[in-house]
Amino acid sequence: MRSLRKTVLLAIIASVVLVLALLHSWPTRAYTTVDVGQRPGQMMEKHLEERLSEPDHRLSNISFHVRDSVTSLLARNGCACEGDSGGLNLPFAQLLFPRVSAHPLHTAFEASELEEIKRRRAKEYQGFQTRSQTPADILIIAEANNPLQYPTQGVEVRPLKTIIVPGLALHQDLRREHYSINVTTTLGTLNVAAEVDGVKIKGDGEMHMTLSSSLLPNLNRQLQFVTYTNTLFHPSTADMVQLETEGHQAMFSIKIRHGVTPKLYNTGPKGEYNVSALVTIATKTFLRYDKLQDLINSVRRYYPTITIVIADDSENPKTITGPYIEHYIMPFGKVGGRFSASCLRYGRLSGFTTLSLSLSLSLSLSLSLSLSLSLALAPFLSQGWFAGRNLAVSQVTTKYVLWVDDDFIFTANTKLEKMVDVLERTTLDLVGGAVREATGYTATYRQTISIEPGEDDGDCLHMRRGFHHVIQGFPNCVVTDGVINFFMARTDKVQQVGFDPRLARVAHLEFFIDGLGSLHVGSCDDVIINHATKIRLPWVSQSESDKTYAKFRYPLASSDATHTKNGLLYFKNRFQCLTHN
Ligand SMILES: *[C@@H]1O[C@H](CO)[C@@H](O)[C@H](O)[C@H]1NC(C)=O
Ligand SMILES: *[C@@H]1O[C@H](CO)[C@@H](O)[C@H](O)[C@H]1NC(C)=O
Ligand SMILES: *[C@@H]1O[C@H](CO)[C@@H](O)[C@H](O)[C@H]1NC(C)=O
Repeated sequence: MRSLRKTVLLAIIASVVLVLALLHSWPTRAYTTVDVGQRPGQMMEKHLEERLSEPDHRLSNISFHVRDSVTSLLARNGCACEGDSGGLNLPFAQLLFPRVSAHPLHTAFEASELEEIKRRRAKEYQGFQTRSQTPADILIIAEANNPLQYPTQGVEVRPLKTIIVPGLALHQDLRREHYSINVTTTLGTLNVAAEVDGVKIKGDGEMHMTLSSSLLPNLNRQLQFVTYTNTLFHPSTADMVQLETEGHQAMFSIKIRHGVTPKLYNTGPKGEYNVSALVTIATKTFLRYDKLQDLINSVRRYYPTITIVIADDSENPKTITGPYIEHYIMPFGKVGGRFSASCLRYGRLSGFTTLSLSLSLSLSLSLSLSLSLSLALAPFLSQGWFAGRNLAVSQVTTKYVLWVDDDFIFTANTKLEKMVDVLERTTLDLVGGAVREATGYTATYRQTISIEPGEDDGDCLHMRRGFHHVIQGFPNCVVTDGVINFFMARTDKVQQVGFDPRLARVAHLEFFIDGLGSLHVGSCDDVIINHATKIRLPWVSQSESDKTYAKFRYPLASSDATHTKNGLLYFKNRFQCLTHN
């Protein structure tokens, strides 16, 4: 009996403790609601636009003369899809005398589906803009003779943290009886870190604070203590702060964002670069095990301990073993259904036909002509497939990754230290080298890429051979936008941009188009790798694996191929037109 009473008592005590604990841990914080779907600051923007568009009547009837040479440089609304007109119309004119040609990209879609595609693209584009723009992108103009002093840029706060707003002051020459300043925010609250005598503070701890005083120095002293606390958690945006005194307004932004988490690599002790510790070689193979073995052997002559990552989608993969080799096997012919015939062609010829054409040309035309011909096309003949590139690059753990094709050969001129040096001592993210053909011709395949804004139809993509400028301190290196398929890059940057796996078979420059704006690209012509020749002599019979390779790799020209590539440029990148030379 007694023990039962004891148990009941214990049970009651236990449940009381439990209830108390529950009550204690019950969330008491009131949660705010933030509209993260909407871009804050739209009201402000409208307000600013109104003020900007107020015409200054005093200036309206001062006459001026238009300078055509300069006005033509100003961005036009709506880019035009135009190439060079006229010129020779010989079979190889495009290769011998490169002209700019223009390709409208909407032709990748049937006329019947085009309207629907356009509508869908516009919707996705709108979402992209909402995500990528912040109120800090708004145009702000500082008025003349404004007595308000404030920071124009560089104020930043971590989400939900507090800062002192630097640089606030009021400068008035005229003596007044009363000075007052209003400060207004939208994503956080205002307060003061200290109170100054003779200053009246209203609205501290709120989004609208008024500071007023009859003594200007005291008011200015008080302004040095104004704090901002971010209260709405919405990182990577900005709060637009409005500052007001009698007759004058000003606006500035406070960026709200997390710090960027660094990703650092331990590069080892000081001194010479240890390439094995800094670089991983990545490649993609398909059937050509003899070529791959030649590549591995050549690498080992110069870099015996560098890691080589191989992505392989052969049907019957062979084992590749050896120290510092990682072999990843992918599903056979991973190319994805209808895209299987894709082939990046900026020329009019598919890889296979070009191959035989360059051969016949080298027999009939002068030697130098045939050399430049086979070279101009080399980048299209020797691409890795993008899914394989992604797989290989995803496994890299060193600071840099070196991309090579499986039919490249390292020589004494393949000095990876030079590439490491450029990447270590500049802000470049990626540096390309040169590829030497068996014929002796060396190519860097430098391309500049630019985007001209268009309206609803999309932007224009312009690609031209060449580069922007030589890099100071590296006379053999230039800055450009796209390079050959032999390059070293910061691993994290390549992983960020990624290789679009929808581009199968032959694709290369698409990576640089996707990376434009985030990849800083260079090219050096003194780091040279050799290319096992591609020119097949008709009297030499092809090996069985070479035949299978050619069948998969160089499918005959199909309209499907161009459609896939153009479709991606049209929808994914929102281009309406591609011009190139
Ligand atoms: C334009 O100039 C004339 C003569 O100088 C002046 O009378 C007129 O007020 C001006 N108009 C405006 C809108 O300033
Ligand atoms: C400051 O804001 C208050 C309302 O909170 C308003 O009455 C006052 O006119 C404003 N002062 C200035 C200088 O804009
Ligand atoms: C270079 O790095 C590799 C791999 O991290 C390491 O095994 C080797 O000892 C290093 N060599 C030197 C000279 O530090």
